[in-house]
Amino acid sequence: MRNTQRLDKVLSNFGYGTRKEIKDYIKAGTVKVDGIVAKDGGLHVDPESSVIEIGCETLKYRKYVYVMMNKPAGVVSATFDNKLKTVVDILPEEFKCFDLFPVGRLDIDTEGLLLMTNDGRLAHELLSPKKHVPKRYYALIAGNVTEDDADRFKKGVTLDDGYRTLPAGLEIIRQGEHSEVEVVIMEGKFHQIKRMFEAVGKKVKYLRRMAMGGLKLDENLQTGECRELTAEEINMLKGQGIDESI
Ligand code: URA
Repeated sequence: MRNTQRLDKVLSNFGYGTRKEIKDYIKAGTVKVDGIVAKDGGLHVDPESSVIEIGCETLKYRKYVYVMMNKPAGVVSATFDNKLKTVVDILPEEFKCFDLFPVGRLDIDTEGLLLMTNDGRLAHELLSPKKHVPKRYYALIAGNVTEDDADRFKKGVTLDDGYRTLPAGLEIIRQGEHSEVEVVIMEGKFHQIKRMFEAVGKKVKYLRRMAMGGLKLDENLQTGECRELTAEEINMLKGQGIDESI
């Protein structure tokens, strides 16, 4: 079935301006649909199949948008907050019109990979507790992390509220008064990694998510920067189910 929508609505949804601005562009003859100058913003177009041009740009229609953010510390993983800046507030203008929301939460002081989308179905799949999507983190720990801690993580540790975690991976990169580690968890309980380290008598000083399923944080993204996922990354997340090989 064809999904037709008003031309002015499609253009404003894609961030090309307000309805008023778009009316002016159309009046000025700068908008074309399938090569023909559009005369009326009320023209019904199928944004999936029509070629819509505005000035020298061709509209790249996509129903769902998938953005990888390298979340900085100091912003909350929410769409709205009364006081604090959210990850939606810091999205570049070009993504603001898509109603993106974060897939899961990172603590305010945690940095790294945050997927943002308007595809509720994929978000649900990735967050489903039944799916056990692995999440890999780099962490800086106050205290000497040992193989004994790694064994305890492997068996699952009991948190402050009595919850026993699923087995988690703990790889030690550097030991000492401060240790560097990588942790892989299969669930996403509140402050999970911080509480797991508390359970073994240590404190997380810094946390950065590196991967979620097969999706890896792009090392070219500075903290606070975003980019859309590639078609390959989207297909990988959707198609193959979840890549457990991170
Ligand atoms: N575990 C935490 O403690 N915090 C996060 O933000 C993510 C995992």
